[in-house]
Amino acid sequence: MRNLHLMRKLFHGISTMWGVAAQQGLYRCGTHMQQVESFSSAWMLVEDGLIVGLGGEEGFYGVDRANVDEALWERIDLGGVEVLPGLVDSHTHIVFAAPRHEEFEMRLKGESYEAIAAAGGGILNSARKLQAMSEDDLYEQAAARLRTMIAHGTTTVEIKSGYGLTTDSELKILRVVKRLKQDFDIVIKATFLGAHGIPMEFKGEPDKYVDLVIKEMLPKVVEEGLADHVDVFCDRGFFTVEQTDRILKAAAAMGLPSKIHANELGLTGGVQVAVTNGSWSADHLEHCSEVEVGLLVESLRMDYGGTVPVGLPGTSYFLGIPYAPGRALIDAGLPFAMATDFNPGSSPIASLQVVWALGCTQQKLLPAEAFYAITCNAARALRCEKEVGALAAGQRANFFTTKTVDAIKAIPYFMGQNHTHQVFVNGRLFE
Ligand code: NIG
Ligand code: FE
Repeated sequence: MRNLHLMRKLFHGISTMWGVAAQQGLYRCGTHMQQVESFSSAWMLVEDGLIVGLGGEEGFYGVDRANVDEALWERIDLGGVEVLPGLVDSHTHIVFAAPRHEEFEMRLKGESYEAIAAAGGGILNSARKLQAMSEDDLYEQAAARLRTMIAHGTTTVEIKSGYGLTTDSELKILRVVKRLKQDFDIVIKATFLGAHGIPMEFKGEPDKYVDLVIKEMLPKVVEEGLADHVDVFCDRGFFTVEQTDRILKAAAAMGLPSKIHANELGLTGGVQVAVTNGSWSADHLEHCSEVEVGLLVESLRMDYGGTVPVGLPGTSYFLGIPYAPGRALIDAGLPFAMATDFNPGSSPIASLQVVWALGCTQQKLLPAEAFYAITCNAARALRCEKEVGALAAGQRANFFTTKTVDAIKAIPYFMGQNHTHQVFVNGRLFE
């Protein structure tokens, strides 16, 4: 007997429902990214925030609408819109104190991102401002950014620390993320990125800072249960492969999986250290040769299930650096994913719809491929593909509606508009 107190909703009035899947937890590799599965004249049954059945003219998955007593379900007519799964942003840095307009202008005049960072700007500039800001003020700013992201259709967000660079400030950021998790119904994952930059006090002695990250920060982060993963900016001028390896191994020993910043500024061994340590994802990859592609392909056969390559095209666009070779990574059979990297230095971009468009025009992904890169494959980068990233029985009823017709093709085509009409989180309208 079904519990009558369950929240039961029947969504109908859906011209096309995109991104449906026969089973929970599917993500897509290589050629399987070319076609987006859909139902037309579609409906969806939602019980207590989870999809229990969905279908349309082509058939159904899970519970069939024909087998339920519709009088017991709240019927919600969406009025003929198209529906897409909530987008998944697997890489962001939205807890920051202020934009870096001055550095934007310096770069426009010819200064490089790396030179600005080496002179104490960049991440260190953001860290100085964040250290001086209260947790409440940081929370308000981050919550506003999150609302903007949700308004653009994103309903899963990974958020990194990394603009603290002291134990107290790193914990302050992660406590902000914890509050966001409590206050928002969307899926939020926290990542500890203490190794984001080397503070001035440790200039010339980076290993001492790595010791602080491992011996002081990590244990506190783990003890307070503040992070779901660890991250390291493994790159030229930041953390070496050896330092990254030490941090990932220490984190793994404390039960924290990893996802890392790899090869943004050069071919610096980031993919190698990620694969050796069983990292869930290797993000950036603006520099990525056939060797790295081959290693990522091999990783798919390893026990941990493989490292997802995550491209961040907003960063390439904003910094004017190469784009990750998304086309080659997909052609090699990988579950390529994309994220915004939303941060004040390299990608002040909140919308995955923009990333979708950049994936197509700059990385030559088909609209369908880019769609999977910001939904189920991005969920795989967070190992939460059973919960979010597709519309399937057993997954969360997180989706957005759009009045844009033929959405999979039209959203990345009409770039710069917000195509979202309404956003639903656990079957409830987000307002
Ligand atoms: O992913 N690359 C490292 N971290 C950020 C940028 C940080 C910053 O410039 O503030 C990124 O691009
Ligand atoms: Fe980043």
